[in-house]
Amino acid sequence: RTSMTLTALAEHEDKAAALLPAEVYDYFAAGAGAETTLHESRTAWEHYRVRPRVLRDVGRVDLPTSLLGAEVSSPVVLAPTAFQGLAHAEGERATARAAAATGSLLALSTRSSTPLEEVAAAGSAPWWFQVYAMRDRDLTLRLVERAVSAGARALVLTGDTPYVGIKRRVTGTRIAIPDDHFLVNLQQHLDPGRADARRAAEQDPTITLEAISWLAEASGLPVLVKGVLRGDEAVACLDAGAAGVVVSNHGGRQLDRAVPSAIALPEVVDAVAGRAPVLVDGGIRSGLDCLVALALGASAVMVGRPVVWGLAAGGEAGVVEALEALRADLTHVMALTGAASLADLDRSLVTATSIWSP
Ligand code: FNR
Repeated sequence: RTSMTLTALAEHEDKAAALLPAEVYDYFAAGAGAETTLHESRTAWEHYRVRPRVLRDVGRVDLPTSLLGAEVSSPVVLAPTAFQGLAHAEGERATARAAAATGSLLALSTRSSTPLEEVAAAGSAPWWFQVYAMRDRDLTLRLVERAVSAGARALVLTGDTPYVGIKRRVTGTRIAIPDDHFLVNLQQHLDPGRADARRAAEQDPTITLEAISWLAEASGLPVLVKGVLRGDEAVACLDAGAAGVVVSNHGGRQLDRAVPSAIALPEVVDAVAGRAPVLVDGGIRSGLDCLVALALGASAVMVGRPVVWGLAAGGEAGVVEALEALRADLTHVMALTGAASLADLDRSLVTATSIWSP
């Protein structure tokens, strides 16, 4: 089908490890605490086994779908990851071009190393803006207004980061991130020399579910909540005005021993019961991981580190390679499962094998 294989993903990470300063590689790779959740975010997908169908016409396998009105070429979305300028000189610009080249949806982090307008101008694909509600609410609103003007199609409010997780591998955590990355999106709103700029830009730990409607009303955009790991919490978010949820533990970077997304996903899908899209991320590294997530009821998956490693290894071309590798692998395993389109993926295709089963 294609010369591109998943080895691209492993090669990108190796290359990134060789190219990047150790503390930068560690910043991207690390998980919180003992990295139990980081580890399980990947292995939990492997607890599912596939129950394929046979003799279905899979001469053509279709991946295009739509997410809150945005047409995308595949259900693989680029997760918001911070400070991509530390991975590659072209940072988020290269990522946005790769998203456009592959017809993928990009979720851009509040903590981008590149002003959001420049990212929006670099790529033509639809994009969502990830929001950290910052201690300075006004600053948050200014940023959201700019994202709306620049064409963001939805906001992704990250709910799992009242405080930044403590990552063992990272010495000094955020202190290692220079101001010209941390504050780049905010600089224009900050008085020169404002002494408390970093604190004002920190996540506000006091926000509540009311932030969902606050952002929806201020922006006129649908708001998804990212970091949901329970069915009842997903329903609470939707009842508070969310247009969707992202099942996520932040790639194992926040609460260590948080439940893996692969385990939380079915509960969330059942509780949401078709009211809104449910996305999922954390440890998605293959077409089979994507297939399991979609079969369990996810509308789409997000990938974080594979994009960062592709970017570090090869800029725009590296990110394209990573996305194409996942797309080719998903297409292949869908065919072997007897699924010719995303609509053919349902829960009967997977069975849980593990200690995680209730
Ligand atoms: C993240 N993630 C993240 N999430 C978010 O909402 N805002 C952000 O700024 C960041 N920044 C960030 C930086 C880095 C280096 C990583 C690795 C992750 C979390 C991200 O969106 C996603 O949930 C995970 O990356 C998914 O896990 P995988 O695909 O990296 O295993």
